Amino acid sequence: MKKSDQPEPRGRVVHGDCLDVLRSLPDASVDLVYVDPPFNTGRVQRRERMLALRDDEGDRTGFAGRRYRTQRLSIDEGFDDSFDDYLGFLEPRLREAHRVLAPTGSLYFHIDYREVHYCKILLDRIFGRASFINEIIWAYDYGARTTKRWPPKHDNILFFAKDPKRYHFDVTEVDRIPYMAPGLVGPEKAARGKLPTDTWWHTIVSPTGKEKLGYPTQKPLGILRRIVRASAPKGGVVLDFFAGSGTTGAAALEHGCRFILVDESQAAIDVMKRRFAGEPGIVFERMTANGAAARVDRQAASVSSSLKSGASSGRARSG
Ligand SMILES: C[S@@+](CC[C@H](N)C(=O)[O-])C[C@H]1O[C@@H](n2cnc3c(N)ncnc32)[C@H](O)[C@@H]1O
Repeated sequence: MKKSDQPEPRGRVVHGDCLDVLRSLPDASVDLVYVDPPFNTGRVQRRERMLALRDDEGDRTGFAGRRYRTQRLSIDEGFDDSFDDYLGFLEPRLREAHRVLAPTGSLYFHIDYREVHYCKILLDRIFGRASFINEIIWAYDYGARTTKRWPPKHDNILFFAKDPKRYHFDVTEVDRIPYMAPGLVGPEKAARGKLPTDTWWHTIVSPTGKEKLGYPTQKPLGILRRIVRASAPKGGVVLDFFAGSGTTGAAALEHGCRFILVDESQAAIDVMKRRFAGEPGIVFERMTANGAAARVDRQAASVSSSLKSGASSGRARSG
């Protein structure tokens, strides 16, 4: 069977740095991107202050050949530069995400209340301010409550469209939720429920529940299901390049979409192998040194560089 005759996989799980994988994807080949990036590179920098003193025996030569000796005065308290690193880390990846999105595609960017404002500005720069559609508040109620301030119990999900005038959003696919005061709306409406707003109440993945896969940052399938159903056309391609336990892929399969999931951590890949075990048409690949994705799953007869040769949707690279 020629490679071009092979059926497109329903899902690709790629082990590698997402920047390499994103660069290998064709332009405009993805219908929906959801990402829940990690925060904090955890790098702490230290600054030394040095004093230069005139000394003929000194270890440095300065202006007009004069000799100086340097004296280390102090080491500042370490400063945490993880924040600057973080936006620098995100920016090239989000620019690639914008490039690979189809003209009707959308990005959902999941972040917490401390960083959301900075990330919004970064995304405004990449997508344009007019492309900002919603800030979704995912509210949950779990864990201890501080008594020193209002206990923070929500995450933020920024929703950007590639083109705010023609993005895919299918409200008929959105699940309906109970009215708060069903008695006020009459039995028919109460039975049908109402559309959710931009504030979503949803429990976290219970540490002891069936959904839990043992991945610490696993997000609830209910949240991803709502996003995928509203913002991905059936048969479309959904991409999550910080995939973790693969929640986005599970929601994509349920909706009849294909997916590309990327993670650099072996632990995440192992969890996704368990999650998608028994699902037909899922391939596992690893980025190679030459920037191609090579299959590593048992079903593959030979090494393929399928990502390089075109993403699942088969749309041509335009740039
Ligand atoms: C917050 S977790 C995502 C959890 C996921 N939404 C879920 O439901 O399980 C972020 C993931 O990004 C991955 N990651 C961090 N840096 C990466 C990079 N440069 N390329 C690919 N994955 C990366 C981490 O290994 C981690 O699994």
